[in-house]
Amino acid sequence: MDKLISLAKRRGFVFQSSEIYGGFGSCYDYGPLGVELINNIKKAWWQAMVQKRDDVVGLDSAIIMHPKVWEASGHVESFADPLVDCKKCKKRFRADHLLEAVSMKPDLEAHKEPPKSIKDIVCPECGGELTEPRNFNLLMKTFIGAVEDATSLAYLRGETCQGIYVNFKNILDSSRQKLPFGIAQIGKAFRNEITPGNYIFRTREFEQMEMQFFVNPKEADKWYDYWKEQRMKWYKDLGMKDEFIRWRRHSKEELAHYAKAAWDIEFDSPFGGWKELAGVHNRSDWDLSRHSQYSGVDLSYIDPVTNEKYVPYIVETSDGAGRAMLAFLLNGYEEVETRSGDEEAKHEKEVVLHLHKSLAPIKVAVLPLSKKEELQRVAHEIKDNLAENWMTQYDETGSIGKRYRRQDEIGTPYCVTVDFETANDKKVTVRDILTMGQERIAIGELKDYLREKLEK
Ligand code: GAP
Repeated sequence: MDKLISLAKRRGFVFQSSEIYGGFGSCYDYGPLGVELINNIKKAWWQAMVQKRDDVVGLDSAIIMHPKVWEASGHVESFADPLVDCKKCKKRFRADHLLEAVSMKPDLEAHKEPPKSIKDIVCPECGGELTEPRNFNLLMKTFIGAVEDATSLAYLRGETCQGIYVNFKNILDSSRQKLPFGIAQIGKAFRNEITPGNYIFRTREFEQMEMQFFVNPKEADKWYDYWKEQRMKWYKDLGMKDEFIRWRRHSKEELAHYAKAAWDIEFDSPFGGWKELAGVHNRSDWDLSRHSQYSGVDLSYIDPVTNEKYVPYIVETSDGAGRAMLAFLLNGYEEVETRSGDEEAKHEKEVVLHLHKSLAPIKVAVLPLSKKEELQRVAHEIKDNLAENWMTQYDETGSIGKRYRRQDEIGTPYCVTVDFETANDKKVTVRDILTMGQERIAIGELKDYLREKLEK
């Protein structure tokens, strides 16, 4: 994990937020390569979930909504984690996470036998006594307008899907969709997590990619199975290894206040084993019933064919964009023996980042073999031409081995070298990151060649 974090910082994928001030409470910024990667993840999700489907439409709703939304959704009352404090060192922990960690790996000096409840656990930092668990609400508060009191209280959304529920009627009336159909949204969500950490895995500000599929209650189980399959397929189609991700069903005790059933896609993390990557939830008629009740607007649906009236059930797919990025980076990180031909580093291991071509931040690197003016002019022309279609990087510094190595560790699928022969034969050499095979391609055919490779 440390190696990945260091690569991500060194190559401009992820920076700590406000780093020059010492960082800030589990917030992160995405650098030049990070923003490309996360945008590509969101694009791939949108293509699969909206663009290629007739039965899902998109939405971009406001982050700050009427505070009643969060009362109706149950978040004001129930969106809480159990919190314990150490009476001695004052450190703060999530009781459920602590119990899980200590049960998996009991510290037998501090705990004579595996703990049955949080009461059997002492502070993992100093051995001090812990307080009774108390509930800590995760909603982030803000105030709207000039006065800061209960009348101006509002919340930053804790999950993007609530914006979808309150627009259900608008979309039904304006888009000519009939049930079953879905509404998808990508956007920021905020949670005042008690124990954030593990890098970008759990942050206080993060992006969700959520789709809510509205169905007849009688068909909810069928659609639930369908969407489970779709979500797993999406990750695998984008290169997640079979052994790196798996399903896990939530027990009854774990279910969120809105969920009738929940399965997580988990990934094999280097920080404590299997961790949640994404979820598929059967939210029943909870959300639309509650919003009908709190707003006074009837959100039930009348089937235009059968005239049956019902409150739709919702099958939700929920993915974190940042968490998906972390999983794709971990899944793709590989250290190999020297492969690039970088003479200076021939005794070191090299990193190859295996990213699906559609996710790679840079698709093509153009590398002129010499600093000769004519060669550089041709290389620049090629770069400008390719940049019309793809994120393309021009790199003229260092040996060719070093430049291949730089591209391998950020997952660039193709490197184009412009060499001394280019002026004569009007051809360039294309190197494939995966096979390291090299092909000589005519400049005039380069774009079609790469299009075939990158977009097929
Ligand atoms: N609307 C349902 C919902 O929000 P969730 O399990 O709380 O369900 C869904 O969150 C996904 O959002 C998670 O699987 C994860 O990918 C992402 N997520 C949740 N909390 C997060 C956090 N603090 N930091 C980063 N990603 C988070």
